[in-house]
Order: sequence, then structure tokens, then C-alpha cells
Amino acid sequence: MARSSDTYVCQSCGAVYGKWAGRCEACGEWNTIELEASEAGPPGSLGAAPSKSKSKQIDFTSLAGAAEDIPRLLTGNNEFDRACGGGLAPGSALLIGGDPGVGKSTLLLQIAAGLARGGANVAYISGEESTAQIRLRAKRLEAETAPVNLASATALRDILASLKSAKPDVVIIDSIQTLWSDALPAAPGTVTQVRACAQELVRFAKSSGAIVLLVGHVTKDGQIAGPRVVEHMVDAVMYFESEQGRDFRILRAVKNRFGAAHEIGVFEMSGEGLKEVANPSELFLTSSDRDVSGAAVFAGIEGTRPVLVEIQALVSPSSLAAPRRAVVGWDGARLSMLLAVLDARAGLDFGRNDVFLNVAGGLRIGEPAADLAAAAALCSSLFDTPLPRDRVVFGEVALSGAVRPVNQTEARLKEARKLGFAGALAPAGASSDMLKVTEAATVADLVAWTRG
Ligand code: TYD
Ligand code: MG
Repeated sequence: MARSSDTYVCQSCGAVYGKWAGRCEACGEWNTIELEASEAGPPGSLGAAPSKSKSKQIDFTSLAGAAEDIPRLLTGNNEFDRACGGGLAPGSALLIGGDPGVGKSTLLLQIAAGLARGGANVAYISGEESTAQIRLRAKRLEAETAPVNLASATALRDILASLKSAKPDVVIIDSIQTLWSDALPAAPGTVTQVRACAQELVRFAKSSGAIVLLVGHVTKDGQIAGPRVVEHMVDAVMYFESEQGRDFRILRAVKNRFGAAHEIGVFEMSGEGLKEVANPSELFLTSSDRDVSGAAVFAGIEGTRPVLVEIQALVSPSSLAAPRRAVVGWDGARLSMLLAVLDARAGLDFGRNDVFLNVAGGLRIGEPAADLAAAAALCSSLFDTPLPRDRVVFGEVALSGAVRPVNQTEARLKEARKLGFAGALAPAGASSDMLKVTEAATVADLVAWTRG
């Protein structure tokens, strides 16, 4: 029999129910609803007696007041600082998510060491590893001499009490899922616990001005395990990603109250930890096989940074009644749309072919500006004609077959010139004195260009 104080909480989205159900109506997930004893009290109430103080008037002010420039704490790791939007803002809370083994603990230990060497008071609290394990890693990273305050703990009450007396500038918690508060009857790792612990730590950041970095695990479908609720609480959410079997890692800001979202930092995992990759374009261009058909270089923008990346297509006759369409690093629906546009507006028939599209190096592209480059790669493979190897391509393709202009044309062309490209295929009006620009107004222009 369920007691009246019991609540059933979806472990995926945090929705609360009065009774158990097989499927969460809020997020549609099956088997995610679990019994948790009643909800947490108001924030800051862990263990404290409820105060009966009277309500107090809040002071309203105007938008036009003096806005201070937020001072940033630089970690000394340029890629990390860039992904954060130019360093860490005091009093901010960041959530860093990623698959197990991607290198979250490694990255944060390096960041901790860098900050400590720069004179910051850094507390690194791990709930997953013993101090001996962390020391071993620090040795490998040649970080053991950095004055980091290291602890292995999971009890929130102890952690908060220690932090209040240690007054650190930066707190690193690895990971939020291992923390638990004894004020709640729920088990560690449940939504209730994670949410309450994150809330207390965010409150600590705001009240003390410390920067709190929380590590969060990501489930196999890419959610920060359990609570999406944590994403709303923190100031910035970053994902640390890697492609299977590859050494480089991308730190991607998906939300940032203090900087541009979608900013990326690129790292390479080596025997001595994560190395910064200052020029990622070189990583995503495969120089050797650019003379084959089906490869186009896309001049993209990741966050505020231009990145050149090769898009590869393979179009081959299919023996299947319903030919295969497979995409890695791009949106599958976008590929279908592009094939339909090329069919309807340029008379190209991909219908009897299997079509594969791959973004080299394991980068994931979300920009519509990649349409034209993907189309160029597809046409090149269909005609079995290599594209000119010293050209970059960018532009958005509309359903009408028109090629639409995209943002930051100058930055794209500048990066291409920097990397030794001689020209670009770009939307009409993109001409520039930096590079020789061939203008494509419609997909028909693209087809003509591809045929040479
Ligand atoms: P880790 O930081 O423990 O991952 P996470 O905290 O995200 O679970 O990193 C684990 C992987 O990184 C592990 O497979 C070993 C590898 N690694 C290196 O290749 N080089 C190194 O210097 C270190 C410390 C780890
Ligand atoms: Mg770890």
C-alpha cells in the first residue's frame, strides 16, 4: 500500500505522480517512474529548522543601472576558456556532461591543477574515486605538484560545511550523481537526490561567489542521466564528446548564461592527458584523399570559430528495393530533403542508389550552411568527378532549389585562406577580395560547377 507521503518520480524528466505508472506521460519514457519518499523541502532547508521570520520587502531597481563587466577567471587552458565563453564567471555553476570514460575527470583535474598553479584556491571533491586513484592520475598528468585541495566524499552536508570554512574560489564535484543528502530518504543517484544536491551547490556558488563545476553522467541516448532539471539550474551546460575510436574530444557549450552557446573547445587525449588542439581545421581535413570523388570541404562555424571540415559522400547502385540512406555527423532528415531537392530542381536521380554521408573526423554539424557542401559531395560522387581540391563550399539550400546566404561569410573565407584554399563556392553576394568566390544562386549552378 502506498503511503500518502510517497511520490512517484520519473527518473528521466523529473515529473511527479501520485501513483505508479508504466509510462511517464510528461516525457513518454517507459519504466522510468520510481517510488521516492516525499519531496525535498525548500532550498537551503536541509536539516535546518523552518524559520518563522516575517516577509521582507524586496527592492526594485531599473535596467539602466551600472552594469559591471563580469571579471573572468582564466584557467590557462585556452580551449576550455573558449568553450566557457572566455573564462569562468565568479559565482557561476557549470554542468559538464559526457559518456563514461570520455575524459571528464581527466579534464577537470587538469583544469584544477592549472587554476591552482595560477594562485586560485581549488577544491576537487570526488565521489567516484579514492584519493589514491586521483593521485595516480595526477602523476600521469604531471599535475601532482599543483596545490589542489583534494578530497573523496559523497555526503552533501559534510561537503557544504567543509566548503563554507575552506572558502575555495573553485569547487569541482565529480560527479553530482554520487552525492547524497541525509535530509532526503531517496537513494543516491535518484532525481530527488541529484536535484536537491545540485540546488544546494548552486546556492553555495551564488552566495559565496565560488565557481562550482559539476560533472554529470550521460545516458546512452545523450541525456544527462536522470535530471534534465539540473540543466535549468546551472549557468552553463557543456558536453564533452568523442567519436568512437578517436583520440580527440570536443567540449561543447549547449547553454551558457555568460557567453555564446555552441562554442567548442577541441582536445586530443594522449598518454599524458588532454592536449589542446588550437587549430581544429587541420584535424577535420583529410589531406591525402582529396582527389577522390565525393569529398567536399565545408567552411563551417562552430560557436564563434570557423572550422573547415571535409564532408564525404558515397553514392553507389543499390540491390535493395528501398535503397539505404545513412548519415554520420549530420541530420538524416536534412539528407532526405537535400536528395529530394536535387531530384526535383536539378533532375538528379538518386532513387536507385544507396547514399552514405559522413562528416570527417567525427565532428557533428548542425548548421544549415552545410547543405551546399553536402550537395556538392553527393553530386561529385554521383558523377564520379573529384571536386577542385583547393575550394571550400558553404551555403544553405532551400526547398525551391535556391542557395541562400549564410552568416559570417567573411570569417569562413578568412579561415579558408589561412589554410591555403584558393577559392570558394558560396551563395550569391558572397564575393570578397580575400578569395576567388564562385557564386551559386541555385542547385543548378552547383551541378554545373561539380561537372567542372
Ligand atoms: P576519465 O577522465 O576517467 O573519464 P571519465 O571521468 O569521463 O569517466 O578518463 C578515462 C579514459 O582516459 C581512460 O580510458 C584512460 C584515458 N586516459 C588517457 O588516455 N590518458 C591519460 O593521461 C589519462 C589520465 C586517461
Ligand atoms: Mg570520472
